[in-house]
Amino acid sequence: MTYNGAKLLITLRFPDPVLARAKRDYVCTFNDKDIGWSEDEIIAKAEDHDGILCSSTNKFTRAVVDRLPKSIRIIATYSVGFEHLDIDTLKIRDISATNTPDVLSKATADIAFMLLLCASRRAGEAERMVRNRMWEGWTPTQLLGPSLQGKRLGILGMGNIGREVATRARAFGMEVHYHNRSRLTANLEKDAIYHDKPENLLQISEFLSLNCPMSEKMRHFINAETLKLLPPNSVLINSARGGLIDDRALIAALKSGRLFAAGLDVFDKEPDVNPAYFELDNVFMTPHIGSATIETRNAMGFRALDNLDQFFAGQRPIDLIT
Ligand code: DGY
Repeated sequence: MTYNGAKLLITLRFPDPVLARAKRDYVCTFNDKDIGWSEDEIIAKAEDHDGILCSSTNKFTRAVVDRLPKSIRIIATYSVGFEHLDIDTLKIRDISATNTPDVLSKATADIAFMLLLCASRRAGEAERMVRNRMWEGWTPTQLLGPSLQGKRLGILGMGNIGREVATRARAFGMEVHYHNRSRLTANLEKDAIYHDKPENLLQISEFLSLNCPMSEKMRHFINAETLKLLPPNSVLINSARGGLIDDRALIAALKSGRLFAAGLDVFDKEPDVNPAYFELDNVFMTPHIGSATIETRNAMGFRALDNLDQFFAGQRPIDLIT
């Protein structure tokens, strides 16, 4: 099926099966590199196109959206997060937008759990010790960290990803607590304990996992004040968005030993990482790989294309944001 010759601008090198399907069904302009186009390039290349398939690394700010050609009717982002899209300006310009929820929840929860384990069990230090040939042998007190079993895990944001983190936490014998904008229904909540204020959640979280969407209100929610609420020696992990954390405050808390460790897959100004983290042994870091499985990245692309197909067939896309 082709969509009446609709023209798509594809801003990055997406996985081959995704590109093959896009090519089959649309007239496409591709970026076949992993280096993103600049905003000016995207605006110029979008001329005469009907839609854009982009990722969260492409910022569609007000200034960018205002300059998009009149032909653009939809932006489909290959991500669940959509804080890089200025929704108000898209509405004014009558440009639709879609995202790719659900399909990456399990893969992202796996990475959240990897961060939890690696930060608490000191996997970064352990790996460096072996790799750098510094391991002199087993000792009873080498590289000790807190157990997960029986501990309280606070989940900030109990959407699809947060609930998948909860499923994994139960399997590790953790007690699950959460805060969400609204309390979950009993079948989704299961045995998780709801806290109506995020501050209350922090106070009991021996482990804290950030799984909420990024918004201006949540920017630097984890800061010097809120970090003080966490129990001493707690472990913080972030697989959501870097902007949720004030890096300077977290670095100070890690340096002082107030926090036992942090596990970070996302960073405020990524790919730039605050260099002070490199000096800290008690932070475990990965480069935004939450959804990076072969199956998930294909599924994200297919979901974005499903949305585009529905839009160009005159239907309401399943993941319509605006
Ligand atoms: C998402 O889907 O939001 C991931 O973080 C990739 O951008």
